[in-house]
Amino acid sequence: MPIAARLNAELSLADASAFPPGFRWGLATAAYQIEGAANEGGRGASIWDTFAATPGRTFHGDTGDIACDHYHRWEHDLDLLADLGVTDYRLSVSWSRLQPTGRGDLNPHGVAFYRAVLAGLRDRGIRPLVTLYHWDLPQPLEDAGGWPVRATAERFADYADLAVRALGDLATDWVTLNEPWCSSFLGYGSGAHAPGRTEPAAAVAAAHHLNLAHGLAVPRIRAASPDARIGITNIVTDVVPESDLLVDRAAATRVDAASNRIFLDPVYLGRYSDAVLDTLPGLRDHVRPGDLEIIAVPTDFAGVNHYQRVLVHHAPGSGMLDAVETAAEPATTSFGWSVTPDALTTVLRRVATEFTSLPIYVTESGASFSDYVDPDGVVADHERVAYLRGYLDAAADAVRAGVDLQGYYAWSFLDNFEWAEGYSKRFGLVYVDYRTQERIPKLSAHWYRRAILEHRAQA
Ligand code: NOJ
Repeated sequence: MPIAARLNAELSLADASAFPPGFRWGLATAAYQIEGAANEGGRGASIWDTFAATPGRTFHGDTGDIACDHYHRWEHDLDLLADLGVTDYRLSVSWSRLQPTGRGDLNPHGVAFYRAVLAGLRDRGIRPLVTLYHWDLPQPLEDAGGWPVRATAERFADYADLAVRALGDLATDWVTLNEPWCSSFLGYGSGAHAPGRTEPAAAVAAAHHLNLAHGLAVPRIRAASPDARIGITNIVTDVVPESDLLVDRAAATRVDAASNRIFLDPVYLGRYSDAVLDTLPGLRDHVRPGDLEIIAVPTDFAGVNHYQRVLVHHAPGSGMLDAVETAAEPATTSFGWSVTPDALTTVLRRVATEFTSLPIYVTESGASFSDYVDPDGVVADHERVAYLRGYLDAAADAVRAGVDLQGYYAWSFLDNFEWAEGYSKRFGLVYVDYRTQERIPKLSAHWYRRAILEHRAQA
């Protein structure tokens, strides 16, 4: 059966007209997850190259050395993006491709690559949203101490300045950092992500220095490109106590503090709340006078990545927070995450009421499923269609409740290198056959295209 006929069975958005005119319909990727060409064009090593090359760190020993080979196939990939009808595309630039050692002059080959990609987007009428840091710290900066060291924040601001000077005529919208929670707590706490350190105190220091890096970078970006629009992307998880027991509620407060509030509080409220300081008392050691004013520098939009609602119970001795998180519903994605669309409404309303009145973009939302190419050559990812429809309807609920939501970037454009999970998790709306690098738009890509057209017809 041809794909169009299969799509007809899939429901449209409940109310596409809920989204404002000019709503950004996007797809998202990140450099290390798609580019490959790890040793080409003067690129330096990042912590992810080192981590992935270390036995036992990633599923199957997978690395980003080749990934989706986007470095060589970017023109075709941009054509595909245009075919999918998106208005917007979120990509990241690799710090170690642009500035191989993390300091000093930019690498001209790296600059040329991103200039070509950004010009290619412009030529196709697709607006870029460029993330400056999506987890790929140049290895020399990790060798000098990494994010637990304050100087790394200064290095990031220098790099952001140079990157925006080099690319700012081709992009106006910038995300400073992607999910600093992962960079700090997974990178230095649990060790599940690069650089794989298991030092809880270092994770807390890293969290503050990432916040500081954002704050230091914003004025540098504005000076480099006066038209720049700037935000930070944080993951916002819906954290729910598993029971009404006081100990479970306290455990949920700790998890919320150490995943959401430690990043949202300083950026949008200019302080670390008591919940954060009580949960992570070591944080105080790293906050110097003036830091919170730097971090709370005004921005232009708030980036929200959302994946999960988790249930939390008290579990003494279980780790840094004496808390255990479980999926809120039967875990139906291949990552073991649950599908709870109303959690997106909850977190968007929370960000808009507790933290900021800035316009919000959902800079990532998506799910991995066990996708396969069927005998007709079709990837019929009905689960992802249902997921996107559910989450977009939930986003529309947030808009109707008054949230100034101005865009949604589905994660991800392509199947790609899913960090510690390697290539075992497929989040793409486009399937990638890693043996041939063939791209096959999944049913969800066709559905997304139709949703965008429906919105445009109604807006
Ligand atoms: C958030 C990260 O920004 C992205 O890189 C990752 O692939 C997705 N979560 C899915 O885990």
